[in-house]
This record gives sequence, C-alpha cells and structure tokens, in this order.
Amino acid sequence: MADSEISINSLSGKQFEYMQLIAEIMEIRKRGEKPVAFIRTYGCQQNVADSEKIKGMLAQSGFEFSDSPENADFILFNTCAVREHAEDRVFGNVGALKNIKRKHPQILIALCGCMMEQEHIANKIYKSFPFVGLVFGTHSLHHFPELMYNSLVNGKRVFERGNDDNKLYEGFPIRRDGSFKGWLPIMYGCNNFCTYCIVPYVRGRERSRDKQIILEEAAAMINNGYKDITLLGQNVNSYGKNLEGGVNFAQLLREIDSIDGDYWLRFMTSHPKDCSKELIDTMAKGTHISRHLHLPFQSGSDRVLKEMNRHYDRKRYLEIVNYAKEKIDGLSLTSDIIVGFPGETYDDFKQTLSLIKEVGFTSLFTFIYSPRVGTPAAEMDDPVPASEKSKWFQELLQVQEEIAAKRCADMVGSTQKVLIEGKTGKNNELSGRTSGNIVVELDAPESTIGTFQNVTITKARNWILKGKIENINNGGI
Ligand code: SAH
Ligand code: SF4
Ligand code: F3S
Repeated sequence: MADSEISINSLSGKQFEYMQLIAEIMEIRKRGEKPVAFIRTYGCQQNVADSEKIKGMLAQSGFEFSDSPENADFILFNTCAVREHAEDRVFGNVGALKNIKRKHPQILIALCGCMMEQEHIANKIYKSFPFVGLVFGTHSLHHFPELMYNSLVNGKRVFERGNDDNKLYEGFPIRRDGSFKGWLPIMYGCNNFCTYCIVPYVRGRERSRDKQIILEEAAAMINNGYKDITLLGQNVNSYGKNLEGGVNFAQLLREIDSIDGDYWLRFMTSHPKDCSKELIDTMAKGTHISRHLHLPFQSGSDRVLKEMNRHYDRKRYLEIVNYAKEKIDGLSLTSDIIVGFPGETYDDFKQTLSLIKEVGFTSLFTFIYSPRVGTPAAEMDDPVPASEKSKWFQELLQVQEEIAAKRCADMVGSTQKVLIEGKTGKNNELSGRTSGNIVVELDAPESTIGTFQNVTITKARNWILKGKIENINNGGI
C-alpha cells in the first residue's frame, strides 16, 4: 500500500441484501405498484456522479424515477455547501416539502451530500425540519441502502455523518442520467485546503481510484455509446498520488485515449499548481481529448493567491497557459474566479481584470466570495462592503462578455465538429457543443441528437454560436 494508506473496498453484499429488503417493503406498501423516487442534485458534477450511484441503488431496490416530488414515495436532495447561496436554496426548497409530507405522511424525505457533512447544518435540519427522516453525508454512500432500510422500518429519524477518509468504495450500481454524455469520477476528496473552500472538510482527503477499474469503466461507457466522457476530480492533476506504481494523470489520460471509438474525453478540474507540460503534451497529441482546458486561477493578484493558499503565482499560471496555447490548436480556456476575497483591494481586482484580458477565456465561472464556517478565510478581516464587491463583479462580467463575444465572432465561417445534445426549447432548434465546450445552436432533425456533426458557424451572439449542418452525418466523423 502507498504512503497515505487508502484502502479500496467493494460495496458489501449486505448492502445488496438491504436493497432487496427495501424492494420487498415497498412492494407491500405500494400493493405491487412500482415505488417512485424524486432526486434533486445541487452543486458540482461530483454530486451528479454521486446521485447516479444513489439512483443505481434505488433502481436495484425497485424504484422508478419522477421529475416531480408530488407523487414520490422517496424524496432526496443531494446538497452543495460551496457558497451560502447554494445552502439557502436547499433550505428554501426543503421547507417547501413540509406540505407534501403533510399530505402523504408515508413519504420518506432525505437529505445527503456536502452540506450534511457539516455539524451545524445537520443540527439545524434536526431542529427546524422534523419531517426530514434521513440525513447522511458524502462519506456514507456505501451504506445508503442500510440507512434507508432503517428509516423505513423503524420510523425513527436516521442522521449520519461519516469520516471514512482512508476508504474508497467500488462496485456501486450506477444509473447514469445521460445516454451519450457521462461523468466518470477518477478520484474523490481534496487535500489542497484553499483558505476559502469548504470542499476538503466535506469531501475528505484525496483518494484516487484504481487505474484498471477506471479503464474498464471508460471502455464500458464507450462500448455503450457514450460520446462525451468527463473525468472528474477536485484536482485531477494529482491523480495517482495515493496509488502504487507511480501512475499520474497524464498517463491515465493517454491510456483511456488509446481505447478505440468515436468519443470525446474531457476532464475537470485541473489545479494550476499541478498542471504539467506532460499533461499539455498529452492533450496536444491525443486522439479523443477535447481541446478544452478548465484551469481555475481564482485571482490575478499574487498577494491574494498567497492568502488563498493556491501555491502558484500569476507568472506560473501564464507560463502554463501560454505553453498550452502554443501546443494545442484552437484551445478553449475556461476558469473560475472569486471576487471580493477578504482583504482584496480594487488594485488586486484590477489584476484579475488584466489577467482575463491577457488570456482571452472562452467563458468564466465567476463568484462573489462567500464565507464558509470552519475555513481560515472566514476568520480574516473583510472590510470591503458587499455593494462594492457587487460593482467589481459587474465590471468583471462586462469585460468578459466582450472577450467571449470577440472569441466567438472569430469562429464565424469555420467548420466545427459538434456533439448535438438536445433541444433548446425554441421552435425546432437544437443545441450542441464544440470540442472546446462552446454552445452552438442550429436547426437540425431530432434524430441528430447524440451524434457528432460537422457544423459551419454562421453567426455569433455573445458567447453562443449559431451554425448549420451542410450534410447530415450518419456514421462517425
Ligand atoms: N476543485 C475545483 C473547484 C471546486 S469549487 C478547483 O480547485 O478549481 C468550484 C469553484 O467555486 C472554485 O473554483 C471557486 O472559484 C468557487 N468557490 C469555492 N469556495 C468559494 C467560496 N467560499 N466563495 C466563493 N466562491 C467559492
Ligand atoms: Fe476547494 Fe481548492 Fe480543493 Fe478546489 S483545490 S476543491 S478550490 S480546496
Ligand atoms: Fe458543492 Fe460539494 Fe461539489 S460543496 S461544489 S457539491 S464537492
């Protein structure tokens, strides 16, 4: 076993027995009708991937799924703790379930995910929402069937927060939401402790999955027709650090990329401190690897980056970005930014603006700093008023809008390979994405959904492209 002693375990047979028992209980309760579950997922793709495991376990317990909570027998919210706004939305929506519980007292209402790993939140749920019967955190997924069984048979409230930091579980049944676009977690947790961030506290230490298991899962997805596979981790660049045999992320990427098939391979998130030239070279030489790099820089000011505990500076960030631009034709760069970190001045903020102008990102995920209980930044002096931060934020959005619009306008006239993803809701219009993850809207038959098409870009509207298919492709491109 490697230095950090991560043990890999299989979901135990006992849990599959609980799934069977749940199916039997529900069959009696529903008098032979199929039980229905409603699952709502907040937050990032890690949570989406966790919900797909929960849905897999529920499907094995005989459940069908509904898009509305009204007629469900089981309601679950998988929550996110990353910003206050995310938590407020959950509290608001949980409050609204009270009426459903009153109308259908048999219903089981459950909350799970990152918020539930925080003691003060679990306590608040316990006190303020007595109709919530089951609460469990991100560390308890591997015995969800047992917890659910206990709440169904005992009628008592079940609350569990775990701390299985050194364990990783395999062998979950997975029920993926999409049929051609899918998530593939390669690691869990985070060791970086950026000073503003709650994730390491609610997701635990970094744990990489075994390479062979990932390769098998990727091959199975490709075989089953997945066209767009995103490898997931809070910092994929540190993949392999807890594994024997010295495998790193670039190697893993090359091995997946060597699987034959018609698909794109994406990954997120890359931490700039660990983004290697080897990774960029792998992207440049790859067959299936998309030309998209999501590389969050958070702030353009070295002083703020240091306070954030990010372990890189502006110079190092630009070095890796410029290397990537040089090596990867048509590279699309995206990033995350925090505005108004404690102690950030307008001068610091201007450096963020100058960095985005210098790099030319396709799109940005921008956030106003939100203090998180238990993180070091929540204890720092934060003298800038919210109204001022809000002005900076608007300024940032405006600058980025111009950059994105120009970037998109430059693509007019080009032909792009696009994965057609679904309807936009306007007339017969469909939308898809380029390899660089840029949205393209176009008129095309519904039969093209889930296929790659060569699309000529005809127009650009801010960060969205309009295009048309010259000849519909029925095979691979
Ligand atoms: N692991 C990823 C991101 C995880 S959270 C990474 O390191 O890039 C996604 C984004 O939320 C972060 O990149 C950051 O920009 C933002 N974020 C995290 N904590 C935040 C906070 N307390 N306030 C505002 N934004 C935050
Ligand atoms: Fe949070 Fe930093 Fe870890 Fe990303 S790398 S999840 S921002 S602590
Ligand atoms: Fe939110 Fe948890 Fe993801 S806090 S951003 S759902 S890891």
